[in-house]
Amino acid sequence: MDETALQRVFRGESNARPPIWLMRQAGRYLPEYRALRAKAASFLDLCYDPELAAEATLQPIRRFGFDAAILFSDILVAPDALGAKVWFEDGEGPRLAPIATAEAFAALRREIDLARLAPIFETIRRVKAVLPREIALLGFCGAPWTVASYMVAGRGAPDQAPARLLAYRDPSLFRALIERLVQASIRYLCAQIEAGVDAVQIFDSWAGVLPSAEFRKWCFAPLNDIVAGVKARWPQTPIIAFPRGANQHLDEVARSSGADVVGLDTSVDLGFAAGLQRLKPVQGNLDPLALLAGGAALDRGTDDILDRLGGGPLIFNLGHGVLPQTPIAHVEQLVRRVRRS
Ligand code: CP3
Repeated sequence: MDETALQRVFRGESNARPPIWLMRQAGRYLPEYRALRAKAASFLDLCYDPELAAEATLQPIRRFGFDAAILFSDILVAPDALGAKVWFEDGEGPRLAPIATAEAFAALRREIDLARLAPIFETIRRVKAVLPREIALLGFCGAPWTVASYMVAGRGAPDQAPARLLAYRDPSLFRALIERLVQASIRYLCAQIEAGVDAVQIFDSWAGVLPSAEFRKWCFAPLNDIVAGVKARWPQTPIIAFPRGANQHLDEVARSSGADVVGLDTSVDLGFAAGLQRLKPVQGNLDPLALLAGGAALDRGTDDILDRLGGGPLIFNLGHGVLPQTPIAHVEQLVRRVRRS
């Protein structure tokens, strides 16, 4: 197989020009995505329709020629396949039947229902069949803490307070939920790899709201358990960890998690990031608002990252997802600048 630029980074090598992809590169800022979205009855229907989801995965590749495609799906399909009822309120966000009591937890499935996720594996096979060989296909899941925070509250909640409270008030119930999600994540990621993804990313979007001791229990240990479980079956498949807001804990993630790449959020200082990069390849971390703003702010933000991290193993990315209001011309400007073309 032809080598992708991402594979060189996974091996710890640098590229003359770093490869680039963007978290949430498929989505509402693209008119072709909005047209596709209008064809599906709901966002989850879009995720579970292999033809439409494959098209959504490929749209940003066609338009911008990114070095990686990311499977079009959502982190909340995992709780959906564990039997938690999930839906998306248009213009608002996810809703789930809350799992905040022992009774609600007992009603969950013991094992993730991979049959329910079959359309997602079919999406992967379809994308893989048409994606140019020099472009990597990424699979993903949400980290247990982040997924649990939506499951406990039944929705996104300020500072994920409901899940943090449950973890203090009923640690054994919360631990059981996290462990259920660890096992589900391992099976789900392994099935994505079997279907054809080249690497996987674990999104811990809410890692940053926890005190240190809680971070170790609910983010760091589960991350390592998932990495160990996936590597036991697929030792060669690279894993990108993205513990957003983990700050000083990133050192621990780089040093002693089994992840192959450390994803950096927008707040990470580039000098600190350069230190991490001596331990592990890094990915990130342009401010999505700099991309939205465009102009000189975008160029400056891009150049800072290229100057400080471009000499080592780097996957250029945002520090969080593309915002829906982002002008397409700004994404084009970013890609040109990173490629110096
Ligand atoms: O990156 C990509 O382009 C691939 C697809 C992808 C989506 N969600 C599509 C999506 C990925 C990797 C995700 C991950 C995800 N989903 C995360 C982790 C990353 C992050 O952003 O922190 C989280 C926390 C979720 C849960 C989720 N999904 C929320 C909170 C929302 C509502 C907020 C919003 O942006 O609307 C979603 C919906 C969602 N997921 C949309 C898309 C394209 C928008 C829904 C629509 O188009 O109707």
